[in-house]
Amino acid sequence: GTEVVGDALGRPLRDLRISVTDRCNFRCSYCMPKEVFGKDYPYLPHASLLSFEEITRISRQFVALGVQKIRLTGGEPLLRKNIEVLIEQLAALRTIEGKPLDLTLTTNGSLLARKARALKAAGLQRVTVSLDGLDDAVFRQMNDVDFPVADVLEGLQAAQEAGLGPIKVNMVVKRGTNDHEILPMVRHFKGSGTVLRFIEYMDVGATNGWRMDEVLPSSEVIQRIQQEFPLIALDPSTPGETAQRWGFADASGAHDPSVGEIGVISSVTQAFCGDCNRARLSTEGQLYLCLFASQGHDLRSLLRADASDADIAGRLQDIWQGRSDRYSELRGSRASDVGTGARRIEMSYIGG
Ligand code: GTP
Ligand code: 5AD
Ligand code: SF4
Ligand code: SF4
Repeated sequence: GTEVVGDALGRPLRDLRISVTDRCNFRCSYCMPKEVFGKDYPYLPHASLLSFEEITRISRQFVALGVQKIRLTGGEPLLRKNIEVLIEQLAALRTIEGKPLDLTLTTNGSLLARKARALKAAGLQRVTVSLDGLDDAVFRQMNDVDFPVADVLEGLQAAQEAGLGPIKVNMVVKRGTNDHEILPMVRHFKGSGTVLRFIEYMDVGATNGWRMDEVLPSSEVIQRIQQEFPLIALDPSTPGETAQRWGFADASGAHDPSVGEIGVISSVTQAFCGDCNRARLSTEGQLYLCLFASQGHDLRSLLRADASDADIAGRLQDIWQGRSDRYSELRGSRASDVGTGARRIEMSYIGG
């Protein structure tokens, strides 16, 4: 297929994030607060979910249009039954389309110890694991289901041994809740080959009660780390990357690759919409062009109405070419849209 041209702001389409379930076994307060996601929460019924065949069919069109990275998300993607089967089908697109394709997954790590080897065998290349602290009490409080940190650390090790590295670890920082875990996390992962990334707590969705005073700006994260470990800014490894990279410096002040790097994802204080090349496919086949969108584009109806591959490709081209989303850049320049009726999608629904 021919590559899609840029969107309305000239941005290419490179990255497809696919949510495979809206369920999760954790209740992180910044994502699925217990008060909202209780026993009676109306999760999607099975018939609404895209099947693996449907996901793969759409993904194939995306790869033909220039997508080079597919990331599976959730909710917790490892809760989707037989996820290895989907991974196998997606991995086969590499040979079918003959194009480079990075296949990865973002997980809370709770099921990794059990599943890492099967995921690797199915063709998954890497994993990114969310981990909000090393202290067991802090971690149990962050996941809010009393899940022990030791089990996630075991999952990380299993992923490493299975060859799912280089692993990235994501820590969402909430001022006053887990910010004292920043330095212990740096000490733990420094020199391990795992890249630790600090994420500014974002105002996604409508249920997490986000407040600016709970955001710890990345500049402050870097400052705190610098007091113990000198860092130097590194260039982006690919255009449109979410994280700014910082390398550990050696005695002469140069980056010491053997000690590695950290990253900061600063969607609140330093928006990165300018070269955002990501599209998001929801569990039920709605295509969202921004993490903060309130409306998606229904691809499932198209699929289930017997559209041809050419029809699907044409529709995807049209949707991308009309895209002008840049929420994080605009966030600063207007009051939050609470009360305007534009209810944003939840992180657990779209996968972050
Ligand atoms: P790598 O390819 O490994 O660099 O992954 P990634 O950073 O693209 O994805 P990951 O799932 O690790 O997400 C890291 C954090 O960045 C999460 O909090 C995401 O919600 C956030 N994030 C990812 N993409 C976007 C985006 O386009 N906009 C905003 N505002 N946040 C994003
Ligand atoms: N702000 C920032 N990051 C978040 N994540 C989930 N909710 C939020 C939020 N409100 C993170 C998860 C995971 C990634 C996909 O998104 O911790 O690492
Ligand atoms: Fe689950 Fe991840 Fe959301 Fe936490 S952030 S509730 S682990 S989907
Ligand atoms: Fe992309 Fe929207 Fe995130 Fe900006 S806010 S980087 S446009 S997903």
